[in-house]
Amino acid sequence: MTAKTDLTGRDFLKLLDYRPEEIQYLIDLSARLKAEKKAHKSQKVLEGRNVALIFEKTSTRTRCSFEVAAHDLGMGTTYLDPSGSQIGKKESIADTARVLSRMFDGIEYRGFGQEIVENLARYADVPVWNGLTNDFHPTQMIADMLTIQEHFGHLKGIRLVYMGDARYNMGNSLMVTCAKLGMDFVACTNPKYYPAEDLVEKCRAIAKETGASITLTDSVEEGCRDADVIYTDVWVSMGEPTEVWKERIDALLPYQVNEKAFSYAKDSAVFMHCLPAYHDQETGVGRSVYEKFGLKEVEVTNEVFEGPRSIVFDEAENRMHSIKAIMYATLGADRN
Ligand code: CP
Ligand code: NVA
Repeated sequence: MTAKTDLTGRDFLKLLDYRPEEIQYLIDLSARLKAEKKAHKSQKVLEGRNVALIFEKTSTRTRCSFEVAAHDLGMGTTYLDPSGSQIGKKESIADTARVLSRMFDGIEYRGFGQEIVENLARYADVPVWNGLTNDFHPTQMIADMLTIQEHFGHLKGIRLVYMGDARYNMGNSLMVTCAKLGMDFVACTNPKYYPAEDLVEKCRAIAKETGASITLTDSVEEGCRDADVIYTDVWVSMGEPTEVWKERIDALLPYQVNEKAFSYAKDSAVFMHCLPAYHDQETGVGRSVYEKFGLKEVEVTNEVFEGPRSIVFDEAENRMHSIKAIMYATLGADRN
């Protein structure tokens, strides 16, 4: 029998802080809670608790996942929107953390630098969950790994190719997660957009222990060869100025996820994206990119996004089940 994993009271700030077996435990717990929900089993084991949801950047999936998951578990939620709190403007992170800890049992924070959420956690005496920073998006990782595990039946040995802006929150997080879980991570992009060297070094050291591998390449053919998963994200992230669009398109267009990229991958390969995605002109940003640069689809073609390889909506659903698992575990619901 495997030893029980107790994450009660832990913060969830980045997966570098977690051991591989703890990450696997959260993935398996997500699967268990998902199955229970599908079977209409009541999950109100955290009745009477309350969580604060701080969003200094906008969100659809992460906010809805925290709210639905918290309500399923019987908890109350308070949402603080990007303009609705004093944080960082009239009140320091340290003071905010100490105030919210007196009222809430857990705090979700989405914002800019990783140091902000780390600082919040330092001063809070309840669990703090990182809902995305410029550097990491750890709750997305549990959902993504659950989705891959559901699809392929395992994680170890899966070759995950990340195309596009690999030096930001999604590329960083996927590289760390693959390293921890014994997977083969490939950043296939323009070298200007490779993840930072110190993080690559850290992940290579972890990979030595777990049997993972980390590859950086600017060749689409080499990068996508034998891929199980091709993953991408937007080329311009929240909080970045719109002026960077031109340089991103110039540098990253060869790394758009399209049928050509998939022609090098395994026949069984799937497409993943954390969403939101610019795959058509049904968004304001999509239309403006078309008007300015004549590009009809950006990081992924509509053909791939809407095609049979795409598992992006399974992935989006899994955000809720995995965020539920993170709150459930860190708030002590799995302790007995
Ligand atoms: N993937 C993700 O974090 O989506 P939101 O920005 O909608 O929360
Ligand atoms: N890199 C994207 C991820 C969105 C979920 C951003 O930070 O905007």
